[in-house]
Amino acid sequence: MSDLPNSHSSFVKEAQPKHIAVIMDGNGRWGIEQKNSRIHGLKAGFETVKKVITASRKVELDSLTLFAFSTENWSRPQKEVDFIMKLLLKALEKESAKMMSNDIKLTVIGDKSRFSRVMQKKIQEVEELTQHCKGLNLNLAINYGGRWDILEAAKQLARDALENKIDIAGVEENDLNARMSLAEQAPVDLMIRTSGEYRISNFVLWQAAYAELYFSDLCWPEFSEQDFYAAIEWFSTRQRRFGLTGEQIVS
Ligand code: FPP
Repeated sequence: MSDLPNSHSSFVKEAQPKHIAVIMDGNGRWGIEQKNSRIHGLKAGFETVKKVITASRKVELDSLTLFAFSTENWSRPQKEVDFIMKLLLKALEKESAKMMSNDIKLTVIGDKSRFSRVMQKKIQEVEELTQHCKGLNLNLAINYGGRWDILEAAKQLARDALENKIDIAGVEENDLNARMSLAEQAPVDLMIRTSGEYRISNFVLWQAAYAELYFSDLCWPEFSEQDFYAAIEWFSTRQRRFGLTGEQIVS
């Protein structure tokens, strides 16, 4: 643990990531390891979420994107699905005032049509309340999948071409990008996944095309503020080449 940074204060802003995406894995397993329940693990995971959001404000991150519920998670036991939905709704209800006072702009990405009316209304309300905030873009991915995101953008592009709003022969990467979730934010440059799993699991596939991938063996409930800073510190040591050679980058 000795080589972990003690705080964020020594970070050089230019070497820091602008956008971090997190796969918060291992909550259920941690709960069971504690001789308790998966639900206990999810509750503890929510405490980590709050710590990481506070840390993101401290390091002046532009965007933090959290994978809270995937399109595949509906197949989990009903009790667990209900609990996660209730937790997300309660978090939106309880934390919206704090988001505003901390200048945090909330955006929910994913297919919202499957949520309850109450949840849909709450999301809209908090997004509207915080839309003027500039301190941190907090993106919650709920009922989200990277392939879904790309497919929706492709469908929108096709609709726009049919309506002659765009000439399909001249379509460029940017035209698809403009129709993706988070189009106005910086691309993901650091992706963190906890619990010793080495997968991207259909998360922000398009947005993380050049992301550095950081894997931690810790389960999400035990991932601390210092661990978050350690991931950022690690990022700053990476040479980002974007397809060029190391020599080209140096020169
Ligand atoms: C992965 O599964 C994680 C989830 C399905 C959701 C995690 C959600 C939270 C921690 C709460 C988020 C709340 C807000 C407001 C963002 P798992 O950890 O259950 O996986 P495991 O079965 O591998 O342990």
